[in-house]
Amino acid sequence: MAELQVNFAGVNFRNPLVLASATPGWDGLRLKKAGEAGFGAVIPKTIGPIQDWAVHPRNGRLFLYRVGNRPVGMINLELFTTKTREEWIARDLALAREGGAKIFASILAMPEPEQTAELASQVEATGLVDLFELNVSCPMPASTVGMHIGKNPELTYRQVKAAKGAIKLPLSVKLTPNVADMVEIAQAAVEAGVDAITISNSIRSFAGVDIETGRPYLRGYGGYTGPAIKPIIMRHFSEVARAVKVPLSAVGGVSSWREVVEYIMLGATTVQIATTIMWEGLGKVQKILDGLSEFMDRKGYRTIEDFRGIALPYIKTVEELAQEPPRFATIDQERCNNCDICSRVCFYGAIRQEEGRTWADKASCDGCGLCVQWCPVGAIELKE
Ligand SMILES: Cc1cc2nc3c(=O)[nH]c(=O)nc-3n(C[C@H](O)[C@H](O)[C@H](O)COP(=O)(O)O)c2cc1C
Repeated sequence: MAELQVNFAGVNFRNPLVLASATPGWDGLRLKKAGEAGFGAVIPKTIGPIQDWAVHPRNGRLFLYRVGNRPVGMINLELFTTKTREEWIARDLALAREGGAKIFASILAMPEPEQTAELASQVEATGLVDLFELNVSCPMPASTVGMHIGKNPELTYRQVKAAKGAIKLPLSVKLTPNVADMVEIAQAAVEAGVDAITISNSIRSFAGVDIETGRPYLRGYGGYTGPAIKPIIMRHFSEVARAVKVPLSAVGGVSSWREVVEYIMLGATTVQIATTIMWEGLGKVQKILDGLSEFMDRKGYRTIEDFRGIALPYIKTVEELAQEPPRFATIDQERCNNCDICSRVCFYGAIRQEEGRTWADKASCDGCGLCVQWCPVGAIELKE
């Protein structure tokens, strides 16, 4: 029977699945319900300053991005908690704890590191949280907070150092994907003494234009989340995983147990989820945990550690890959149904239909592999 328990930065979670900081954790009651639904840990909406724009209710801030009819992502202008720091401290954190999940408190890196330290120690003093996540990565704010701190290694270093100096509980820093190289930021955080890293926050984006009215769907730049962002976050995640030794929490594009397994195979100790919970509800939590357990049983993995990071050694540079022997499309004539999709997607002209059969010409094939993935009957393989 699979054992899902993990130790993340010294804290034992009953399983690796974490509710990411977002709408489903906007108050203590929702967090309690999320805990009861089975999450290993829950993260409240980022606690920060109450500004005049951060009030409840707001004026339209979420946009569902569809390809055809299918939602593939979501853009939000949500910003931070609409509850005051005092409300969290007096009531909501205690309520959240009743759900049985660990409380992973998200705090905003404030414009000055001393303010961050003060916020962290106030929240720690409640005795109601188990660890911290420092948000240096919100993609919306104009200039002084969020990704404006997190895109700069020096500012990130100062914020982590200040927060670490003020608290005894473990600290993770949540990084921004809106940088060319996340590794240098992660290394600065490690130098400042961070205990773990969360990768990552949402991608700064623009929702598009309603062509009937000529107006933007959302009149500002928001954070892109959900299934579509997974390849981008996995790039940053795996680059950091290969460069630092601290435990990592993955977040971005999880829609089933499969992505949880993928992130663990890339080195994650815990995996967070937000958009899918907003779309499918808390019933999804147990489905993901059941899928993860069944997968582990099927593969003979007893603990998460048995397969954590196993994919990392296989990641190569394109220069290294170019040294490997070429492989060519080869079509299994028994399986091929002559649907012709492969020749349509082959821009090398390597696949032809002649005399009622489809065949691949090794001399023209570039070995790109696109035909293999489009073939509806699994009839094509790349072979040396
Ligand atoms: C509506 C919404 C609000 C969010 N609010 C916060 C927040 O307050 N603090 C934070 O660190 N991340 C916030 N996030 C980012 C999520 O924690 C997460 O990093 C992101 O959604 C990617 O994960 P997903 O693809 O599973 O949604 C928010 C995301 C969404 C969708």
